[in-house]
Amino acid sequence: MEDNGTYKILFVCLGNICRSPAADGLMKHIVKQRGLEHRFYIDSAGTYGGHAGELPDPRMRRAAARRGYLLEHRAQRFKSSMFAQFDLIVAMDDNNYYDLQSMAPTVDDEKKIVRMADYCRHYTATHVPDPYYEGADGFEHVLNLLEDACEGLLDALNV
Ligand code: 4NP
Repeated sequence: MEDNGTYKILFVCLGNICRSPAADGLMKHIVKQRGLEHRFYIDSAGTYGGHAGELPDPRMRRAAARRGYLLEHRAQRFKSSMFAQFDLIVAMDDNNYYDLQSMAPTVDDEKKIVRMADYCRHYTATHVPDPYYEGADGFEHVLNLLEDACEGLLDALNV
């Protein structure tokens, strides 16, 4: 599961400009707060590549900045070779989850895929909803879920 002591987590959504880069930025922030940067490699990707190279959506960047999170990720499309590069692949919703499952080269790779919402401890959620076509509340809701789930995930990893 681990090599050279670094645990590698990839967050995945559809466009890689709203939910997964926010999860990526939040997780890096929390890991740093806990003094665990050296133990983790964190990145994000999207199953759809149409926004590749873009910074996160300005609405998400603004909402995240208000909470003290800097989102600087450049969007990239998920590739099945990423299964070999990461220990855990975290899907934001069921579409992402099943798309990822269909791309897993091996059964062991398939076991690396988990649902972000399963790590929420304060919110009851089955998925992190796509805020792209929503108003400002949608972005705040996503950040609330991601803060909850990132803390839950990090605690579950028992690092
Ligand atoms: P994300 O949101 O999956 O959270 O990055 C979306 C961003 C863009 C699109 C869909 C979802 N899009 O269709 O362009």
